[in-house]
Amino acid sequence: MPEFQTTPGTRDILPPDAARWRAFIENFATVVERAGFEQIILPMFEDLGVFLRLGDATDVVTKEMYDFVDKGGRHVALRPEQTAGACRAYVQHHPVPPWKVWYAGPNFRYEKAQHGRYRQFDQVGVEVLGVDDPLLDVEVIALAHEFFRLLGLRDVTLHINSLGDAGDRDRYVSALSEYFNSHSSELSEESRATLARNPLRVLDSKRPNEQDLIREAPSITHFLSDDAAAHFAMVQQGLALLGVDFVVNDRLVRGLDYYRRTTFEFSSGALDSAQTAVGGGGRYDGLVEDLGGAPTPGIGFAIGLDRTLLACDAEAVFSAPSSAADVFVVDTTDGRAALTVSARLREAGQRVERAYGAKSMKSQMKAADRSGAVFAVIVGSDEAAAGTCTVRNLSTSEQLTVPRDGLVAHLAGQLGSRTPRRSNS
Ligand code: HAM
Repeated sequence: MPEFQTTPGTRDILPPDAARWRAFIENFATVVERAGFEQIILPMFEDLGVFLRLGDATDVVTKEMYDFVDKGGRHVALRPEQTAGACRAYVQHHPVPPWKVWYAGPNFRYEKAQHGRYRQFDQVGVEVLGVDDPLLDVEVIALAHEFFRLLGLRDVTLHINSLGDAGDRDRYVSALSEYFNSHSSELSEESRATLARNPLRVLDSKRPNEQDLIREAPSITHFLSDDAAAHFAMVQQGLALLGVDFVVNDRLVRGLDYYRRTTFEFSSGALDSAQTAVGGGGRYDGLVEDLGGAPTPGIGFAIGLDRTLLACDAEAVFSAPSSAADVFVVDTTDGRAALTVSARLREAGQRVERAYGAKSMKSQMKAADRSGAVFAVIVGSDEAAAGTCTVRNLSTSEQLTVPRDGLVAHLAGQLGSRTPRRSNS
């Protein structure tokens, strides 16, 4: 075993998976930029205080933060998500609302590492600040839905709920707390500890012997103010109008404390582990204010890139884009022809591979076949002397002699001009 390996919860994303990641992000950018979102790049670490606003009842804050005091004595933390950072940026730069941003990048949570749950994981996401309109909630949810469809995922279910306004939520939490406390002997020790910290999260328990109790618990539906209930009704009507299927799930509470009104989560039926959430989000109308800004409504979502790709694997969709070369240059003289021919073809936009280290013709032709290239360009001593090269179609074995200075034009005619590839499955 080598002395150094990736630490628990982190992974190397090797080729060809790294190209698949990039295609994932490019596809996401395409979907959200069509809807008017612009990219934001936030710092990976910030003042710890920014993330404390996620709520002192969340595991993300109390147990999972990667925080440290830097050499200048500042207490900072690696970001566990990007919503708080986006709101901090909004307060700091006061852009004109509505502010519609999207992001991609790694986040860090000291979680129990397992398949589909990592300590460093990537998300793509959007945030909209400054709009209090239930039809925006619909648009935001529909974007995530559209993206999952674009990836080819079929087995993804959208769950929606409303957590009401701050007052509704507080009254509901009190009612839940009273209910679970009166049944505390039926709760596991872990759930009793959760109850003391955050009664809402008891609803997340997956323990089979607590499911009856959870089913009978009070429902948030009965605690919504008229405004919050009307907002939620409009969200459901809008989703129906767009033909986006959803399940109303009054037990959906989400892991972060900042949510108000609309919350949602996408779960994959193709993932068999406990980690089936491939994305989630909601409204966080008090967060900007908590970070020192003027009262500003906000809504967004984040999609877990790592976990969504696991769902893609399980459904056999969105494979890695092809990395095959267009052309493989074979040079059996001294290698200089391969150097210059490759350089010229690459400048002209072709994807070109070649062998190194004076290999035999046979071994270079084998490498050409393995590369998946469409053509081999062969320069042997005859071609070198005549200033030509042989262009061989690697699937039909047809060959043609082409003058060296006409090669770029010849191959451009055969291959067409290339644009960066994307996964298309
Ligand atoms: P979240 O539910 O904590 O929400 O994370 C969103 C998604 O990130 C999850 O559904 C999951 O796919 C992925 N994820 C979270 N933790 C891990 C992990 N340890 N390993 C692998 N994947 C993970 C948020 O982060 C909110 N900021 C979303 C949001 C944006 N709400 C409003 N705007």
